[in-house]
Amino acid sequence: MSLSYAVHERSDRRPAQERDAILANPGFGKQFTDHMVRSTWTGDRGWHDAQVCAYGPFQLDPAAAVLHYAQEIFEGMKAYRHADGSVWTFRPEANAARFNRSAQRLALPPLEEADFLESLKQLVQLDVDWVPDSTSGESSLYLRPFMFASESFLGVRPAQEVTYSVIASPAGSYFTGGLKPISLWISEHFSRAGKGGTGDAKCGGNYAASLAAQIEASENGCDQSVFLDSVEQKYVEELGGMNVFLVYQDGRIVTPALTGSILEGITRSSIIELAKDLDLRPEEKRISLEEWRADAESGQITEAFACGTAAVVTPIGRLLSTKGEFRTGPEGDGGPVATRIRESLLDIQTGRAEDTRGWLTRLA
Ligand code: PLP
Ligand code: COI
Repeated sequence: MSLSYAVHERSDRRPAQERDAILANPGFGKQFTDHMVRSTWTGDRGWHDAQVCAYGPFQLDPAAAVLHYAQEIFEGMKAYRHADGSVWTFRPEANAARFNRSAQRLALPPLEEADFLESLKQLVQLDVDWVPDSTSGESSLYLRPFMFASESFLGVRPAQEVTYSVIASPAGSYFTGGLKPISLWISEHFSRAGKGGTGDAKCGGNYAASLAAQIEASENGCDQSVFLDSVEQKYVEELGGMNVFLVYQDGRIVTPALTGSILEGITRSSIIELAKDLDLRPEEKRISLEEWRADAESGQITEAFACGTAAVVTPIGRLLSTKGEFRTGPEGDGGPVATRIRESLLDIQTGRAEDTRGWLTRLA
């Protein structure tokens, strides 16, 4: 570890009563804890000024490169409070590694895995009272590490001043309706990512590029858009913020193979590993939309679900496009396989089941 985080605890923390009212019904991404992490990288000094300080606005010059050229990356992870009060996170080394892969793609500086982990520990230890009880349900403290070009310069080149930060937000269900099957709009006009682009990096620009399709989805009464490959508009890739799995009657669970334009989700990789414990056969392959439709209509596909840190495992009910619609999973609470996978994953994350793979790291 090369960084040492100075701790500047604020004296005006949110009153406990206010905090507890937020924790009772956190929603997603609306409320933030009392502190944040910040550190600065410059071309001549490397990373320095690492600190945990009061949560508050950044002062950015209007010429800060991120505002013009979107040189920015982020991560999404969760801290869970177990029954004994201890606080844990899930596979943070995988997030640290992905953060560095994203940094490389966006020409941002690397951050050592140990410095990344330490930043999470420092923030969660200071704001530990903000971690909801995770022993029932899926409440957690969502952690958002991010890095952006803070140099004031309008020339197009990798920034020579970069800011790293972590904020934390108590989280319940990502979807406002709670756990019920979502409907997907098949985006025919918009691609999220293309060959050689940034689809497999977790950078803000990918999410900006998904929003026009998200508007189209909403206008058509759908919860999310599903993106197809940008070359043939034929193969299923992922949603704007989640990977996809299809559940087959014969015990296979199939997810689109990584093509370079799909984000390699840590939930996705974990489900592929967990599947074997659940007598399911994971498969990564290209899946055409037509195959999805035909196999859902013939009953070979019995369920489909989206997965990610924020969404955990969310069943998919229907797919719609200008050409019509088809059902891909049961109504109600979703299908039995998605439910079993969701429970297995949450049981490990929240300490209700033994962590036999060493996936958890203690934060506090
Ligand atoms: N795909 C996209 C585009 C995402 O934003 C996310 C969320 O982080 C995922 C997939 C799922 O990734 P993970 O399971 O690591 O959260
Ligand atoms: C996550 O699941 O952590 C994501 O980043 C998805 C979305 C909230 C952007």
